[in-house]
Amino acid sequence: MIEVLSVASEVYPLIKTGGLADVAGALPGALAEFGVTMRTLVPGYPAVIGKMSGGREVARFNDLFGVDARLLAGRAEGLDLIVLDAPALYDRPGNPYMGPEGWDWPDNWKRYAALSWVASELGLGLVEGYRPQVIHAHDWQAGLVPAYVKFGPSATLKTVMTVHNMAFQGTFGAQVFPQLRLPPHAFSMDGVEYYGGVGYLKAGVECADVVTTVSPTYAAEIRTPAFGMGLEGLLNSRSATVHGVLNGIDMDAWNPATDPALAQTYTASSMQGRLVNKRAVQEAFGLDALDGPLFAVVSRLTWQKGIDLLAANIDMLVASGAQLAVLGSGDAELENAVRSAAMQYPGKVGLVTGYNEKLSHLIQGGADVMMVPSRFEPCGLTQLYALRYGCVPLVCRVGGLNDTVIDANVAAIQAEVATGVQFAPPSEAALADAIRRVLALYADEKSWKKMQRRGMKSDVSWQASAARYAELYASLIGYTTDDSQDD
Ligand code: ADP
Ligand code: GLC
Repeated sequence: MIEVLSVASEVYPLIKTGGLADVAGALPGALAEFGVTMRTLVPGYPAVIGKMSGGREVARFNDLFGVDARLLAGRAEGLDLIVLDAPALYDRPGNPYMGPEGWDWPDNWKRYAALSWVASELGLGLVEGYRPQVIHAHDWQAGLVPAYVKFGPSATLKTVMTVHNMAFQGTFGAQVFPQLRLPPHAFSMDGVEYYGGVGYLKAGVECADVVTTVSPTYAAEIRTPAFGMGLEGLLNSRSATVHGVLNGIDMDAWNPATDPALAQTYTASSMQGRLVNKRAVQEAFGLDALDGPLFAVVSRLTWQKGIDLLAANIDMLVASGAQLAVLGSGDAELENAVRSAAMQYPGKVGLVTGYNEKLSHLIQGGADVMMVPSRFEPCGLTQLYALRYGCVPLVCRVGGLNDTVIDANVAAIQAEVATGVQFAPPSEAALADAIRRVLALYADEKSWKKMQRRGMKSDVSWQASAARYAELYASLIGYTTDDSQDD
């Protein structure tokens, strides 16, 4: 077996703000059959500590970046966890990263440096009987892990850095550097220095043995200035170690045949249950019980997600007889744009703000079209859930959306392989065209059903990608994948 420590700032079902949690929560289970044992190090937010009642204390720190802390090891929700219980850092209300006013916690540099430093100590054998061979760091919050390992004493410990979103880099002023417990020469181009300050994601991309991101298209995009967000030069210089490994989904948590969040379960061969769910979605969003196409959005309401492009097309959607259900929260301006459309078109447009996992499942099971008009999308999970649930994805042709949805162009329709509709570039006009294409496809009931079924049968599991991660870990520690299976 290969022993891997995953380090993530969120993990489903304990704590989730987005797709990172889904990935960190599903990957350990998916890797088990590929000879990989994965434990996950997470911060002890209240939601996490609440689930760790049976946890064992395996280490204590009197001065972890100035605070008292301990490590709890145990299982919760099927995950093998090591929790960093440091109340002064993590025992705070609400979102992991922001205070109630919506501002980033001012000590985030310390909160996630502490997490990363502890990970590297675990890698050095801090806890008796546990010694990971590879540490797999996710996003900027774990970006310092590869730096602590590179500038630390171990010559054998290997690191993988996965970038889930280049837009969040964790950059801080140079004044934090002396407190990071790194040697002075780590404040350099080969280390954590980034445009005169400290860059956590930069450090991870610079220092990790292998860098991955969550789709092949995004792996190519981030080598360009438009998507690399300042890190494109570094990524180009390390291109041989940068891999795009597509996310999968948890096929049990997201299964329309068994999903308890649905009003009625269904399968690809008998989809009548979708109508019952559609009515339930309409009710939940205050929409009329109409039979026309029901478009939906389940998303952070931000510029990245192209919600402004959607807002600009609502008049057209409604005029064409469609309905729209939006679940999400985010930028006040975008939220207001959708809210005023909902007021203007009662019964046709509905908005539910806030985070609602159960409703997100119901929407996948009842809406006809899932819109993901993102300007950039490293992978995207909502379109994968949509495929699995027979909710046809309408997506912008970027990142993982490009890799997972087969556009219903003429050739794809003839070959009977289309699973959704793509548009590009991310503009109001291109989205409008795509909406018209969707409406035309929806009008042909028989071929629409075929497209839904094809989506439901497309492979959105972790199978292939878990194998790929296992291969990457194995190559780092000099195993062949066969060795790891036997071990
Ligand atoms: P990102 O991580 O960039 O937000 P992804 O598509 O990878 O985008 O993942 C988003 C995840 O968050 C999905 O599991 C989606 O269902 C979920 N999600 C987004 N907004 C909400 C919401 N308001 N309520 C419930 N789930 C949501
Ligand atoms: C990020 C990306 C999203 C991706 C998710 C999980 O939040 O924005 O595209 O699916 O991470 O990798």
